[in-house]
Amino acid sequence: MKRAVYPGSFDPLTNGHLDIVQKAVRLFDEVTVAVLHNPEKQPLFSVAERVALAAEALADVPGVRVDSFTGLLADYARRVQADAVVRGIRGTQDVASELPMAQMNARLNPEVTTVFFATDVHSADISSTLVRQIAKFGGDVSGLVPPNVAAALAKRFAAATEGGH
Ligand code: PNS
Repeated sequence: MKRAVYPGSFDPLTNGHLDIVQKAVRLFDEVTVAVLHNPEKQPLFSVAERVALAAEALADVPGVRVDSFTGLLADYARRVQADAVVRGIRGTQDVASELPMAQMNARLNPEVTTVFFATDVHSADISSTLVRQIAKFGGDVSGLVPPNVAAALAKRFAAATEGGH
């Protein structure tokens, strides 16, 4: 039984994240999408909302569970007895930021290995940050996120602009 943890902010989950999950379930028996609760950041969606959106979008993918964590990823991985941490790589910038994290996580928890998946070329330009910006100004995010996430974004920003601001 090989377990992988796929950690992230997932604010919100994108088609790029879905692509990585789909690749990971082919190699691991169980993949846990682990939503980071970072008390220092003000996310668009709460942890509970991000978990619910991810769970809904991934309902049809066997071998996936969705969880949340706070604190160090290395400690969370130890707690859930993960064999691997999964991260997606869109380009060289991701390598530059991901490699030090992977190396530090290996130092903090030698039981866990980080495995990088190359993002599909069609998802390489997708990030949660860009999706939030596009949705905020009424742009079309339907090709960038699962339908339930697109609906949640539309609702969130419709609520935010009520009153004519
Ligand atoms: O989706 P993101 O924001 O790129 O994910 C970043 C994440 C959650 C993987 C990273 O910030 C993380 O692991 N945070 C938990 C705190 C931690 O362990 N920090 C030390 C990393 S070496």
